[in-house]
Amino acid sequence: MKMKKLFLLIPVIGSIAACTSEKGPVPVKDTDNCDSTISYSADIAPIMTDYCISCHTAGGSGTGDFTTYTELKQKADNGSLKNRVVDLKDMPQAGSPTISEDQRKMINCWIKQGAPNN
Ligand code: HEC
Repeated sequence: MKMKKLFLLIPVIGSIAACTSEKGPVPVKDTDNCDSTISYSADIAPIMTDYCISCHTAGGSGTGDFTTYTELKQKADNGSLKNRVVDLKDMPQAGSPTISEDQRKMINCWIKQGAPNN
């Protein structure tokens, strides 16, 4: 009886192990040295959607419409995006949900990489 239970358990343990090894380690973006390529569509646009476009839309209070790439790219190129998000850290504006240090670093790396529409 005991043996039977043990044999039943082995495939279960085996499949759990297989599952975790298949998944592998979650790739972490290197935002300290900017070695990882940051993607506008996968990394930056979601931050804009969640934390910026409540104000930064056409007709919104924020300067610049960040719902699409074009105007965000302009702010990346003229230095204001880095200035406000990475250096001064006064965006998102006080009183609204803020972003993490990692997210600030990610935006910084994207700018350093030329703020591509990737
Ligand atoms: C609660 C509203 C609000 C939110 C949320 C917000 N902003 Fe702003 N933002 C403003 C306002 C208002 C201005 C214009 C006044 C100023 O420069 O402080 C501005 C200005 C800026 C500027 C300067 C643009 C220029 O041409 O001088 C940048 C860059 C910026 N925001 C980036 C962001 C980013 C990136 C986020 C999200 C991570 C964000 N903001 C979230 C309200 C907001």
